[in-house]
Amino acid sequence: MSVPTSSPVVALSNVSKSFANGTLAVRDVTLALQPGSFTSLLGPSGCGKSTLLRLMAGLSEPTTGSVTRPQTVGTTSFVFQEPTLMPWASALDNVTLPLDLAGAPKAEAAAKGRELLARVGLKGFEGSYPRELSGGMKMRVSIARALVTQPQVLLLDEPFAALDEITRFKLNNDFLELWKEQRFTAIFVTHSVFESVYMSERVLVLAACPGRLAADLAIQTEHERGEQFRTSADYARLCRQTSEALEKAMKT
Ligand SMILES: Nc1ncnc2c1ncn2[C@@H]1O[C@H](COP(=O)(O)OP(=O)(O)OP(=O)(O)O)[C@@H](O)[C@H]1O
Ligand SMILES: [Mg+2]
Repeated sequence: MSVPTSSPVVALSNVSKSFANGTLAVRDVTLALQPGSFTSLLGPSGCGKSTLLRLMAGLSEPTTGSVTRPQTVGTTSFVFQEPTLMPWASALDNVTLPLDLAGAPKAEAAAKGRELLARVGLKGFEGSYPRELSGGMKMRVSIARALVTQPQVLLLDEPFAALDEITRFKLNNDFLELWKEQRFTAIFVTHSVFESVYMSERVLVLAACPGRLAADLAIQTEHERGEQFRTSADYARLCRQTSEALEKAMKT
């Protein structure tokens, strides 16, 4: 008997995207993402990762093929590579922005914003301005802002790429904890084999020029995601396997 799967939160069917200047950024991509899953998009610079993410978010239309996002799917949030905070507003006001724009009562929005800032480790920094925060702290504010609407789908475009390794590892762990708690569907763009394997249940490897799906890898391990996984034999094996798939993709 086959195990029933729930309907995907986003499905791409034979999607291609070309730009006005003639660049074919993405060619014939078909994929479906299950609710609550954690998927990484891994590939070299220019292979169409950001283009695919924008297509999934509905920020851009495919040239051919179709993108389906069921009506029943709740909010979609986007975390950009740069934290893109409003410099003149406090951390709290930055986080509550999506709620303020939606017309939520001020007190309710502030309470929710405070709760999320605490959740990302920024209790006590509610009144700080972006210029007073480190790069890692700004990224935490940006993640809190993305989560304030309780999205069902969260798309992240290389969110930790600009951070030092120690901060990145810490944010990887904190973000995984949030995902385990809230079980939003995460789509995570990264250049890093190690990060993709550490974070996700599934890695989609992309080949470049034009961007295509080269491999669809299940990251299966008995380890709970976290530091004990990072030092396991499973992690080393899965990184090697993913690295080989990426190398192969880069030759095609
Ligand atoms: N608006 C645009 N107009 C024309 N070409 C574009 C546009 N956006 C992206 N491209 C081209 O499409 C291809 C894919 O770009 P995309 O930004 O999706 O790559 P990426 O995988 O996200 O790269 P990176 O890892 O450097 O962020 C590139 O060749 C890029 O030059
Ligand atoms: Mg990009």
